[in-house]
Amino acid sequence: MDKILINGGKPLAGEVHISGAKNAAVAIIPAALLVEDRCVIENVPDISDVDSILQMIVSLGAEVEKPDCNTVVVDATNLSVNVVDPELASKMRASYYLMGALIGRFTKAKVPHPGGCNFGVRPIDQHLKSFRCLGCEVVADDIFVDIDASGLQGGNVYFDVVSVGATINAILAATLAPGKTVLENCAKEPHVVDLANFLNSMGANIRGAGTDVIKIIGVGSLRGGTYTIIPDQIEAGTYMAAAAATRGDVVINNIIPKHMEAISAKFEEMGVTIEEYDEAIRVKANDRPLKNIKVKTLPYPGFPTDLQPPMIVLLSTVEGTSVVTEGVWESRFQYVAELEKMGIKIDINGTVATIEGGAPLKPAELCATDLRAGASMIVAALACNGVSEITQLRYIDRGYEHIVDKLRAIGADVKRVDD
Ligand code: EPU
Repeated sequence: MDKILINGGKPLAGEVHISGAKNAAVAIIPAALLVEDRCVIENVPDISDVDSILQMIVSLGAEVEKPDCNTVVVDATNLSVNVVDPELASKMRASYYLMGALIGRFTKAKVPHPGGCNFGVRPIDQHLKSFRCLGCEVVADDIFVDIDASGLQGGNVYFDVVSVGATINAILAATLAPGKTVLENCAKEPHVVDLANFLNSMGANIRGAGTDVIKIIGVGSLRGGTYTIIPDQIEAGTYMAAAAATRGDVVINNIIPKHMEAISAKFEEMGVTIEEYDEAIRVKANDRPLKNIKVKTLPYPGFPTDLQPPMIVLLSTVEGTSVVTEGVWESRFQYVAELEKMGIKIDINGTVATIEGGAPLKPAELCATDLRAGASMIVAALACNGVSEITQLRYIDRGYEHIVDKLRAIGADVKRVDD
């Protein structure tokens, strides 16, 4: 079993390059199934979630090439299978995007319920509602969602909750659906916009992505092309937290500063110096003491839930009481039991975490319980004097490209070993 060993307590310094966005890649790769032509997708992160979604589309008959580790070429001209294997789908959440993509290509599709990290109940009712609003018949049993899309056409969808996945699935389903679709109360995350930009660059007619209302005129077909995925906001935020928690000074390259605004604002409120450049930000936490703050996670443009775990670790290094309210998921604090092994003091009450910060962290053996929890354990180990180890790296590998090499390049004493 692989584990990461970190001899922490040293301020990180230097420059780190951010990879393409995981949550954009896992939507854009299924979206390429709507194109009966070659799509060249660049800046794809080299992570296991991408491998999993590629494996799924290959099993459906798409041809996939990887000319280098960050470029994927998808040709779905000969897509021939409309049933997704439950074992493959259980590996990740984004397997649900095959629902929206397959009903654009076939009159019927059978896609299993998705896997993914466990944050309590993760319903897909809004995804299924959108398919029904677009003329589909949908029947879900314990394993599969069975969709009859012979009546697929444009329609109006009002989402009862703001959902990234449901917004993306509805865009996928509506792209080739005859007529006009209006989606209301949409998610505005950068990866929703990136998906719409990808589809538009292939000939789709999607307007309003990044706002509450998205309007789509169905087109007859899409053409191939080349598209570059946006940088990963969450990977960048994780390195920001690592830089600040170690009281370091790190330049984070290849980012879109606009996507980082809510995060930078909270770091500045703590007393971290943030310098913004065109495609980079510098995070400097070594010139004054940091302050305790309150944070609430919210859909974009709010503070992202996926950075809640690294933020909690950062706040545990700051003197005083901080409060973090989880505003997206009903249960995203299970991992704190692992952090408590390091002496971090966190009290959980429903969706509110109260952190008594400032006590020195103790090295510990930690087990990653999900992707972002695993990343937060790496941040904690970097901030802690002594050697800590982290296991269950398969979670971290799902979403962080070459994390050990990137941390070493900014001065971390970290290695990955096979036990
Ligand atoms: N929700 C419903 N019904 C639905 C869909 C969602 O009630 O049909 C609720 C959820 O229970 C949750 C809220 O709406 O309370 C938001 O869920 P959303 O659908 O936006 O989440 P998701 O699409 O399943 C994506 C990311 C997650 C990220 C969330 C929120 C991907 C593949 N996953 O999940 O990323 O936490 O948006 O931003 O894009 C991660 O990268 O580690 C990760 C978990």
